[in-house]
Amino acid sequence: MRTLISILFCLSVSLAIGTEKVTSFAVSPKVVELLESYCFSCHDAESKKGDVRLDNLETLALKDRLDLLNRVQEQIFIKEMPPKKKKTQPSDTERQQLYDWMSAELRKHNASKFEELAWFREYLR
Ligand code: HEC
Repeated sequence: MRTLISILFCLSVSLAIGTEKVTSFAVSPKVVELLESYCFSCHDAESKKGDVRLDNLETLALKDRLDLLNRVQEQIFIKEMPPKKKKTQPSDTERQQLYDWMSAELRKHNASKFEELAWFREYLR
């Protein structure tokens, strides 16, 4: 019985690794462009403000990436980032483009914490 359980365990682990490989990840060119214009000056390898780096999303483990995308989505939604004092601000359309892309990525993995919250707030009203 034990062997069977460990075989099943190995199988599910390798399946999980398998699917992770299949769902390859790439940041859409438009989003890269927006992040470059509005975020990289403070969030790249050199200046990791608030310990946040946005130029290496592709290299992160899935869980770390989803955590980060959740934080980014929230910042964009509440318009805290880029900081208000910064002169170059994304337009509403550009914000929406960023937000939509984050949503789609998070939804693929059923991992949008923020939208759950937004939905819940709506529900409470
Ligand atoms: C002028 C510099 C600057 C720019 C430009 C900037 N940020 Fe930030 N960001 C900061 C600083 C400083 C912090 C850490 C302190 C704070 O939270 O206010 C931060 C923190 C963050 C955090 C972590 C917040 C948290 O509480 O989890 C995220 C996510 C983030 N930024 C995303 C972005 C995104 C996305 C953009 C572009 C749309 C952006 N930032 C542009 C300076 C900047």
